[in-house]
Amino acid sequence: MSDCLFDLHAGYVRFRNPIALAPMAGIVDSAFANQYAVDAGLVVLGAFNLDKGSMEVASDLASRGRKEFISDEPLELIKREIRAVNSGTAVAVNVRSTTLEPLIEAAKLVKEEGAILELNAHCKQPEMLKTGLGEALLRDFPRLSAWITAIKKTGVVLSVKVRANVVNDVELARLIDKAGADIIHVDAMLEGFGADLDAISNYRDATRLFIIGNNSVTDFDAAKDMFSRGADMVSVARGAMENPNLIKELVECATMYQGSIGWYNAPKHVCSEGDFRALAFCCLPVKHCPVHGKYKKLGYTAEEFTRTKMEFARGTMLEYGEDTCFGSLVWCCKITKPCWIRDGVLHSIGLSDSEYMKLKEKLAKHVLDHARIPVNESQ
Ligand SMILES: Cc1cc2nc3c(=O)[nH]c(=O)nc-3n(C[C@H](O)[C@H](O)[C@H](O)COP(=O)(O)O)c2cc1C
Ligand code: SF4
Ligand code: SF4
Repeated sequence: MSDCLFDLHAGYVRFRNPIALAPMAGIVDSAFANQYAVDAGLVVLGAFNLDKGSMEVASDLASRGRKEFISDEPLELIKREIRAVNSGTAVAVNVRSTTLEPLIEAAKLVKEEGAILELNAHCKQPEMLKTGLGEALLRDFPRLSAWITAIKKTGVVLSVKVRANVVNDVELARLIDKAGADIIHVDAMLEGFGADLDAISNYRDATRLFIIGNNSVTDFDAAKDMFSRGADMVSVARGAMENPNLIKELVECATMYQGSIGWYNAPKHVCSEGDFRALAFCCLPVKHCPVHGKYKKLGYTAEEFTRTKMEFARGTMLEYGEDTCFGSLVWCCKITKPCWIRDGVLHSIGLSDSEYMKLKEKLAKHVLDHARIPVNESQ
């Protein structure tokens, strides 16, 4: 399995592929990860309870049959657990605490171990909420923001695990971004409906942070749906228990897909509700269509948007394509949209599908980098 195919990283952590094991309290420890997720790009262990308040709640839940990781020496446990993951995959630890200080101590340790700290703003059992744990953090923006900023001062790579459709997702994504976190791990659950893919798109268009999409991924089609909405990585929890080969299968499919398409999480076209990155596939802005609303949200005029794309194309293979709709590949569609004109140009200039898509990925980054209004401030 090639480790270089994906260029995925967050701070000091590199991921060999975009498939993760999601945390499950009392279940996902190093032994579980070593058994079910040896191929993963990331394993998120935990949740671990760090302070008296969280331990009491966890003990209470455990006494009623829920599985929990409880230890009088949580930092020792976390250190042992990180070190016991023997697959060479990146490791994160999902943690709960009612107070900040234990989170800071955990962050220092986790950083020393080269791992990621994941702040649990997700668990929703009434006992957790009453104590201010888990999802309660989502309803307390000032505390969430202050904690993220304080934890980040340790230099740890920080993920925040959230649940979509609890508060305003756009405001939440921006708050997490501005407070300084590195990753948003979003459970896109919509009560009664499974994964809400629009929620992933909402996060993607609210921030440029690394996004891990989560919920109900049990095959590669479901993973691809999240990737095309802008998830940089997709995580699985229950699916890994139901199908012990799931992570291996997802990694194999993602690897094959990236090999053939070159941009595994390429967006849908803007006219199919694609995110900002999809401006890389948009036509010259001359007809009445959703492109205008999209580039305007980034502060571009039509002329500036046109110039920005043309400037990127200069000197690259995207300059070619005189016979295409708008005279250059820079205005051409996603490779998965069949088009014999574009494919003929690619063939004649010797540019493979995946090289074409890699250029489009760089173009998307260029368009976002040069926006007058940054993504995390767009309307
Ligand atoms: C038994 C169980 C325990 C869980 N414990 C945690 C936890 O401690 N921390 C957390 O952030 N998410 C926890 N989750 C949520 C999962 O990480 C994941 O977000 C959720 O199950 C949806 O993903 P899935 O459809 O792949 O299972 C738990 C889920 C399950 C099923
Ligand atoms: S410019 Fe083309 S690809 Fe973009 S939204 Fe309009 S029709 Fe769709
Ligand atoms: S030539 Fe084909 S790929 Fe290019 S813009 Fe026209 S329809 Fe799209």
